[in-house]
Amino acid sequence: MIFVTGGAGFIGSNFVLDWLAQSDEPVLNFDKLTYAGNVNNLASLKDDPRHVFVRGDICDGEQVLALLREHQPRAIVHFAAESHVDRSIHGPAEFINTNINGTFALLEAARAYWTALEGDAKAAFRFLHVSTDEVYGTLGPNDPPFSETTPYAPNSPYSASKAASDHLVRSYHHTYGFPTLTTNCSNNYGPYHFPEKLIPLIIANAQAGKPLPIYGDGQQIRDWLFVSDHCTAIRRVLADGKLGETYNVGGWNEMANLDVVHTLCDILDSLKPKADGGSYRDQITYVKDRPGHDRRYAIDARKLERELGWKPAETFETGIRKTVQWYLDNPEWVADVQSGAYAKWVETNYFNREAGQ
Ligand code: NAD
Ligand code: DAU
Repeated sequence: MIFVTGGAGFIGSNFVLDWLAQSDEPVLNFDKLTYAGNVNNLASLKDDPRHVFVRGDICDGEQVLALLREHQPRAIVHFAAESHVDRSIHGPAEFINTNINGTFALLEAARAYWTALEGDAKAAFRFLHVSTDEVYGTLGPNDPPFSETTPYAPNSPYSASKAASDHLVRSYHHTYGFPTLTTNCSNNYGPYHFPEKLIPLIIANAQAGKPLPIYGDGQQIRDWLFVSDHCTAIRRVLADGKLGETYNVGGWNEMANLDVVHTLCDILDSLKPKADGGSYRDQITYVKDRPGHDRRYAIDARKLERELGWKPAETFETGIRKTVQWYLDNPEWVADVQSGAYAKWVETNYFNREAGQ
């Protein structure tokens, strides 16, 4: 079996669903169920014996080690993290705790488990760490995309905490020979994306008749990757990646935020026209920029393409249509995650925010 951390979050739950759709190898899904974790994402696996869910914290190394010894996984795929940049600005402590201390505790438990393995089981074991392109910092308009050798220059508490976790993973390979793999991916989008992040927030706010908040001038550029393409990349790296190496994952889809929001409004205008005949674009509202906002991310994914034969299957045009349709088809999922702590976050991030341009 494989041991997945954070498998109730956005990418983790897509990965678990994808994994069990393609193979019968069981998954132990270990997740703390923070505000971002949602077992409803995994509802289709409710009676599936291949999926074992355990609620727990990666900072609890003893619990992790006991589970590893009990279930004897052949690999760990590590998604668990605090993942939202804006939250890291309002409250960095939890990012240091989970992303740095938690990854450290997980590495220690995994190393103890792996050290005791023997023969083929030891040789086959893998620890795959899922990280982000944000560790490389920000690009100018004419800079080449981030490659695996771009120096780290994280600019937010979130990206600094992910960078620290990447360095720990690297050091465990270098020092202990621990069998690590690291992936650094660009912005994902798709089903089960929590509506604190740009794309699902815009889809939800548009339908609710609320403002569509654009930070600063909206000309910040991100590279967008459909989440199932990220899942495929992780499977490829887990199967054939070289130990100790890192692989950049991206969709070759650089877009300015304002263009992303315009695209979403246009798709919604055609799939769910407004009753008053207007456009969702009329709801766009400029708000004060994110502090330290990185201007541009772009990923050079040629190593993964060349060495492991991976390519994204979706273009932004196909992936974003599927995504909008998924949100239109699943209003109860959105309503469910918007209850509770979500309202408090919206108040913290938007209500007292000054107007922008
Ligand atoms: P998410 O916030 O949607 O989900 C995180 C999951 O981790 C949740 O289920 C949460 O309950 C769980 N978790 C948090 N703290 C935990 C802890 N201490 N112990 C156990 N579980 C814990 O995040 P996501 O967007 O799915 O991102 C998953 C991973 O991919 C993260 O490591 C993130 O840094 C990385 N990543 C995300 C993106 C993106 O665009 N979303 C891009 C590149 C890399
Ligand atoms: O690049 C990979 C990263 O992508 C991941 O490591 C992070 O976990 C993930 O959250 C994402 O980070 P971003 O900060 O790029 O994603 P977010 O959806 O928060 O914002 C995307 C862009 O949209 C960013 O430039 C900020 C902007 N934005 C965001 C929100 C929530 C707005 O203009 N308005 C908003 O209300």
